Amino acid sequence: MRILLLSHAFNSLTQRLSAELQQRGHQTSVEFDIADSVTEEAVALFAPDLIVAPYLRRAIPESVWSRLVCLIVHPGIAGDRGPSALDWAIRNQETDWGVTVLQAQAEMDAGPVWASVPFAMRSASKSSLYRHEVTQAACSAVLQALQRFESGNFVPQSAATLPAPHGQWRPLMKQEQRRLDWQRDSSASVLRQIQAADGFPGVADKLFGQPCHLFDAWPEATLRGAPGSVIGRRETTLLRATVDGAVWIGHIKREGSIKLPAALAFEREAAQLPEIALQDWWRCNTLTWQDIAYEEHAGVGFLSFEFYNGAMSSHQCERLRSALVWARQRPTQVLVLTGGRDFWSNGIHLNVIEAASLGGGSAADASWDNINAINDLALELINTEQQITVAALGGNAGAGGCFLARACDLVWARAAVLLNPHYKNMGNLYGSEYWSYLLPRRVGMQAAKAIMRDRQALTAPDALRTGLIDACFSDAAQTFQAEVMQRAAALASQSDLAQRLATKREARQRDEAVKPLAAYREEELTQMRRNFYGFDPSYHIARHHFVHKSPASWTPRHLARHRDLGWRLP
Ligand code: COA
Repeated sequence: MRILLLSHAFNSLTQRLSAELQQRGHQTSVEFDIADSVTEEAVALFAPDLIVAPYLRRAIPESVWSRLVCLIVHPGIAGDRGPSALDWAIRNQETDWGVTVLQAQAEMDAGPVWASVPFAMRSASKSSLYRHEVTQAACSAVLQALQRFESGNFVPQSAATLPAPHGQWRPLMKQEQRRLDWQRDSSASVLRQIQAADGFPGVADKLFGQPCHLFDAWPEATLRGAPGSVIGRRETTLLRATVDGAVWIGHIKREGSIKLPAALAFEREAAQLPEIALQDWWRCNTLTWQDIAYEEHAGVGFLSFEFYNGAMSSHQCERLRSALVWARQRPTQVLVLTGGRDFWSNGIHLNVIEAASLGGGSAADASWDNINAINDLALELINTEQQITVAALGGNAGAGGCFLARACDLVWARAAVLLNPHYKNMGNLYGSEYWSYLLPRRVGMQAAKAIMRDRQALTAPDALRTGLIDACFSDAAQTFQAEVMQRAAALASQSDLAQRLATKREARQRDEAVKPLAAYREEELTQMRRNFYGFDPSYHIARHHFVHKSPASWTPRHLARHRDLGWRLP
């Protein structure tokens, strides 16, 4: 079928659906929901058999839905309606939730149901639920709906006629309904409120007397203070007391500014607070905030780094590099880097870079520092001699984050993971992280050029086929983790491991003799220097729009195939 994906943005769910549909032989094109007339034009150009709308913030115009079946992905159970579906589900502590694919009609979310797929709720932030449970259920529901559509004999039913459970209309959740009362609310309640608002719109609050929005909250089991007071900081986070404990606030958006690590958003105030360091930084501790942790099982080291949105600032790269150097001294022969639950890495921290310019500093200098810090980390991985390194991607990876993973000897990905191994979307950024060494040797020079040029998202199975990754297994986070442990333990117990390590060292020496890593780095950084300091400001403009979330005013041509100059209706 010819399927038009109509979406507010090419977010991870839209990317995943696009890839899944193409894999099944459907022809897809993407149009951003910018204006009714633009949608009408896209329909006229592409003449789709139907429209799938994975992520919309506005209604589809009647001129379109009255002529064409438009399938809307709604992150709620059948009958649930309204723009804050997941927010309410978290707030109401639903234990079972779901995704429904319904047909667009005049009344919002009230059309007949083509498919509905349930999932069990997890205690997590809205964005984390969206990236895992919702995305997974949405893919199943859309594929089911398409099968039914193609069969030609399925009649979608109104939600009211379907068997229970049933949702209901719920309005947009306003900030009054999200308000925190630090003199009354328990830690659990504060956590839930912030989780229900992550990563957008956050919870409006005041800190140090300044209005701001809070994101990314974590529990704290032991530390206490006067309710509402900010007791201390740890790395990028601030700890604020509640009536029965305290919560860590990871990210804050101050009025008129952008979302930043909390201790940077209130840099001056945070500098006055005591640093509450973890006693043993590596020991996994779920009862407090911790971003980098290390553990060992069956002779394998596991290094995790839970960086919000997978963005890695210079300081985070340096800390992770130190952790890696420390982990390499352990008596293990396999070292697995597990990244974070939602993202493995999305490369350099564009918000922190932007903050440098907001503070009157140089975004070019901040970009330069960050790319060098992430390169140092990649270099440390490439030069790890005593261990087989494995990047285990339980979450998505983008841009430099993909090549940081590729700097490991092996890359294993959860089957549902998406990779965006390219940089050009960020204002034609050339990219570094030794990609020019790491990518061609895996996929060949031609394929490497195509990957960089085409800027497509790859599903894990696609990435495996191209040779970019080494294995892909298991859809669910839990089973992926268990299988990673099993596979890593099996690797560590292989009798020829010493030989394998020796072969790896020899291969590296041979590569170094042909062309030193320093030469790759210098070539990449020559281009990056132009991106950061040259006369063409595209990267700075693209970063500004990305970080400030400027609404798109057109669909990029590499996505809107129906707008290609040579496009003809078959
Ligand atoms: N720096 C700072 N924030 C980043 C980031 C980065 N490198 N990459 C992603 N984010 C943030 C987004 O701004 C968004 O923030 P929000 O929570 O405030 O909404 C969040 O992460 C999720 O990103 P989103 O784009 O919604 O996720 P996605 O899964 O749909 O798309 C990417 C993933 C990787 C395609 C997309 O985020 C992207 O292009 N990131 C930039 C990658 C990049 O160019 N890095 C620099 C070069 S190394």
